Amino acid sequence: MRDITGCVAMISGANRGIGEAIAAALHADGWALSLGARDVASLEASAAGYRTDVAGDGDATGRADRGPAVTLHRYDATDPEAAERWTAETIAAHGRIDCLVNNAGVAHPDDFEELTESTLDEMWEVNAKGPFRMLRATLDHLRGSGEGRIVNVISMSGKRVRGTFAPGYAMSKHAAMALHHSVRHLTFPDGIRCTAVCPGYVQTDMTADFGVDPSIMIQADDLAQALATILRLPNTASVAELLVTTEPETIA
Ligand SMILES: NC(=O)c1ccc[n+]([C@@H]2O[C@H](COP(=O)([O-])OP(=O)(O)OC[C@H]3O[C@@H](n4cnc5c(N)ncnc54)[C@H](OP(=O)(O)O)[C@@H]3O)[C@@H](O)[C@H]2O)c1
Repeated sequence: MRDITGCVAMISGANRGIGEAIAAALHADGWALSLGARDVASLEASAAGYRTDVAGDGDATGRADRGPAVTLHRYDATDPEAAERWTAETIAAHGRIDCLVNNAGVAHPDDFEELTESTLDEMWEVNAKGPFRMLRATLDHLRGSGEGRIVNVISMSGKRVRGTFAPGYAMSKHAAMALHHSVRHLTFPDGIRCTAVCPGYVQTDMTADFGVDPSIMIQADDLAQALATILRLPNTASVAELLVTTEPETIA
């Protein structure tokens, strides 16, 4: 296992759900964090136990003794300027970026007959173009790390199509998976290791109305612990995809 002391991770959609759980697990492991969310007030609430600094509000490294430094940033995946802005703020506050976690996402479970172009566009913008822009903005900094890490929180819906369920979401997540593997090959020689996190149903706000029994769902904290372990692995042990399911799955 490698020593991640002093390493900095950016996490999008860190104010709730899987992103909030990943932030907690990485913070406990000693990562400094740059957390992004549309609503910084909700981010402040979820990060209340950390040594935090709102972007531009002072020195992230100079606060009281509550673990590694955590900075909070406004990030809306539908804003084309947001990725560059958040990246610049992170460098200004922390001086480096060692890990990017593309977690922010939206899911509309509409079937083919219900799916509108505007709904499809929203999922494309947040689930596929958002990670694309974040990767473009951060890549040089991740290369500079020497042991950079990229995590794309995708879904089992990026691996297979489940009958007629949520075709637009599956389209956007398959696109994210294509981006993931392309960037994984591109950056491997630079010492960057990329992991796609592909869960089945996770018990978060996203799945609250899916009509699935919550007691069979994955817990976000369990998923986050698995990812935190992967992020401590050295460059010689790369996990390209982490498939976590609540039932046997056929990938087809
Ligand atoms: N839950 C599941 O079963 C499941 C399974 C497989 C994959 N996933 C994936 O896991 C990731 C996290 O999902 P979750 O279950 O934690 O869902 P969630 O509880 O609904 O949280 C979604 C997160 O994404 C953020 N987000 C949505 N639109 C955004 C935008 N335009 N710009 C920036 N942030 C935005 C949300 O911010 P706001 O608070 O501002 O809305 C929130 O932080 C997503 O990529 C999702 O597709 C989830």
